[in-house]
Amino acid sequence: MSDTPKTPGFATLAIHAGAAPDPTTGARVTPIYQTSSYVFNDADHAASLFGLESFGNIYTRIGNPTQAVLEQRIAALEGGTAALAVASGHAAQMIVFHTLMETGDSFVAARQLYGGSVNQFNHAFKKFGWNVAWADGTDPESFERAITPATRAIYCESVANPGGIVMDLDAIGKIAKKHGLPFIVDNTMASPYLCQPKQHGADIVVHSMTKFLGGHGNSIGGVIVDCGTFDWMQAKHKYKTLVEPNASYNGMVLAETFGNFSFAIACRVMGLRDLGPAIAPFNAFLILTGIETLPLRMEKHCANTLAVATHLAKHPKVAWVNYAGLTSDKNHAIQSRIAPKGAGAVFTFGLRDGYKAGVSLVSNVKLFSHLANIGDTRSLIIHPASTTHRQLTDAQRVAAGAGPDVVRLSIGLEDVADIIGDLDQALG
Ligand SMILES: Cc1ncc(COP(=O)(O)O)c(C=O)c1O
Repeated sequence: MSDTPKTPGFATLAIHAGAAPDPTTGARVTPIYQTSSYVFNDADHAASLFGLESFGNIYTRIGNPTQAVLEQRIAALEGGTAALAVASGHAAQMIVFHTLMETGDSFVAARQLYGGSVNQFNHAFKKFGWNVAWADGTDPESFERAITPATRAIYCESVANPGGIVMDLDAIGKIAKKHGLPFIVDNTMASPYLCQPKQHGADIVVHSMTKFLGGHGNSIGGVIVDCGTFDWMQAKHKYKTLVEPNASYNGMVLAETFGNFSFAIACRVMGLRDLGPAIAPFNAFLILTGIETLPLRMEKHCANTLAVATHLAKHPKVAWVNYAGLTSDKNHAIQSRIAPKGAGAVFTFGLRDGYKAGVSLVSNVKLFSHLANIGDTRSLIIHPASTTHRQLTDAQRVAAGAGPDVVRLSIGLEDVADIIGDLDQALG
């Protein structure tokens, strides 16, 4: 027998990473620490916590023991050095860029992103003076062409919502490395079970935990994972939050003091502390519980989705299906390399009879829920042209992959015969 401790497998980490029986009560499940603040041992202890000389609890806006278990678990599942859980996926994105950017800085992002992220980057971030340059997620070289001296990061989704495009993370990551830029990947649609972006060059991973990590459609949350791979002290560009002496921490240089987990620390002690979008302990608890079954759920999500996509591809009322899990799909080869265990649970398809057929389908389904979310145990449906993309012009809708004929599904964990039966009866 070897003395080297074996790294636990993914399913073991999904249940145990970060957790231990509660030292006070013996409670086996991580408790919900529903408290806003924590008593210091003495004045020296308080001073050392505030000076970042020791780690511990101060105030739930900055950290909480339930949240800490969630963070350690996700860091383990993503292979990162540390993580920071926050109130939503959008809050995670805001804190990441707040840590990296100064007014006038820019970043390059794939244009095939969740529509809410496109809005956040185009409009809300502009108010902070942060600019986005758009690249084509299917053309890695377009990221390189969009880089300017003001560029501070590269951003994409591993599997894009909703287009089902799987990005060539290896190729985009190489470009980021060549230009000395941190590579940020939103891994929401794949989850760490299907894809670990760090293995493909990512330096920072973000998630909307609202989707597959939580998995039950009951809580909003986001997380930032520090992969520990980017050397901020040696970086080509000066990331001030990390490398300049910090006036609010006695001149401490975060990247020097915290090394390969300094990005996660900077996000917590500068981003979360000052911007404030903390996750509620109850939401952290629900998401932590959801993660325990992530491997099982993702297997079943992928198997059900492949069966539904295969069925729809042959349906006479369906013009096309975009699902990378289909061997005939243009994204299948990249998916087999980036997310080999499956292509996830979300895909789009087009109805031959266009807009009216889309509205009729969402009105006729019985098992599917007509709503704007993904990554639930329940099967979900939306017709973007009449809902999320309603305000756009026809041309903008088509460019965003939300033309009049497009329907998005997020396939749940019900019996697949019932899911297919519901679509068939609703298609008429
Ligand atoms: C891929 C992706 N990233 C980020 C977000 C934003 O997450 P949240 O709704 O938790 O703020 C979403 C939400 O749908 C998403 O689908």
